[in-house]
Amino acid sequence: MRNTLVNFVTDTAKKGKAHAYSALQPERYLVGLEKQQAGKDKTILITGASSGLGENMARQFAKLGYNLAICARRESRLEQLKGDLNEQYPDIRIEYRTLDVADYKAVFEVFQAFAKDFGSIDKVVVNAGVGESRRIGKGRFETNRRTAEINFVGALAQCEAAMQIFRAQNSGQLVVISSMSAMRGLPRHMTTYGACKAGLAYLAEGIRADMILTKLPIKISTIYPGYIRTEINTNAKPLPFEVDADTGSRAIVAAIESEVEEACVPSVPWSLVGQMMKHLPLPLVNKIS
Ligand SMILES: NC(=O)c1ccc[n+]([C@@H]2O[C@H](COP(=O)([O-])OP(=O)(O)OC[C@H]3O[C@@H](n4cnc5c(N)ncnc54)[C@H](OP(=O)(O)O)[C@@H]3O)[C@@H](O)[C@H]2O)c1
Repeated sequence: MRNTLVNFVTDTAKKGKAHAYSALQPERYLVGLEKQQAGKDKTILITGASSGLGENMARQFAKLGYNLAICARRESRLEQLKGDLNEQYPDIRIEYRTLDVADYKAVFEVFQAFAKDFGSIDKVVVNAGVGESRRIGKGRFETNRRTAEINFVGALAQCEAAMQIFRAQNSGQLVVISSMSAMRGLPRHMTTYGACKAGLAYLAEGIRADMILTKLPIKISTIYPGYIRTEINTNAKPLPFEVDADTGSRAIVAAIESEVEEACVPSVPWSLVGQMMKHLPLPLVNKIS
C-alpha cells in the first residue's frame, strides 16, 4: 500500500514536471524530443492533415521521426505534403488516404486500412473540423447540422475507430482537438461550433474515465487551442492573442508528447483565459468571446 502511494506520488510529480515544461517552454521541449527522435518506429494518424493545424502537426511529428498516416478530403494537398516530407525525412514512412469524416463508414475503413499498413498505430489525432456555424433560429439549420455532423458525429466515429484499434493493441494515445470555445456556451456564429467542441471534450473525458475503470493503458488527451491563424479563420479580422499555425501547432505537439490529459494552447494566455471563461458571469464571457 505504502509503495503504491509512493509510486503514485513520484509518477504524478514526474508527469507534472513534463506537462509544465511542455506548456511553458514548448520550443525547448520539442528540441529535446527532436534530438532523441522520440517518434522513431512509431506511427501517428492525423485527420484533417491537408491544411492548418493538421498539416503543421504532420510536419512537426515528421521532424520527431514519426511515421505518418494522414487523411482529409483534398487529395492533391495530401500528395504534396507527403512529397515534401519524404524529401526532407527519407527515413520515415508516410501513407495518405482521402476521407470525409461525415462518411462514418469510411472513417472505420480508412483507420483499419492504416492500421493494416503500419501494423500498429501509436497515436490518433482527431483534428478534422469546420468553423461554419450560424446564429440559432435564423434559418441556417442545414449549416449548423453539417457542422455538428463533421465536428461532433464525425469526431465520435474517429474516436470509436481509434479506440477499436487501441483496445486490440492494448496501447495507444487518443488526442482530440477541441477548442477554447468549449469552455462556455457562446453567442452568434459560435453557438453550434462551441457546443460540438464541448461535446467532444466530454466524450474524451468519458473515454478517459472508462480507461481508469477498466485499467486499460490507453492515454486520452484533450487539447483546447486558442486563436491560431489557419484557413478556418482566413477572413476573420485580427483575433485576440492569435498566433500563426507553426507556433500553434508546435504548442499542440509539445502538449501531445507530454501525454497531458487536458491542455489549453498556447498555455499563455489561454490557461488563464479558460479559467476566466469558466467562472465569469455570461454577460462578461460574451464580451471576451
Ligand atoms: N485555428 C484555430 O484557431 C482553432 C482553434 C480551436 C480549434 N481548432 C480546431 O482545429 C482543427 C483544425 O482546424 P484548422 O484551424 O487547422 O483549420 P483548417 O486549416 O481549415 O483545417 C481543417 C482541416 O479539416 C479537414 N476537414 C474539414 N472537413 C472535413 C471533413 N468533412 N472530412 C475530413 N476532413 C475535413 C480539412 O481538410 P479537407 O478540406 O481537405 O477535407 C482540413 O485539413 C479543427 O477541428 C478546428 O475546429 C482550430
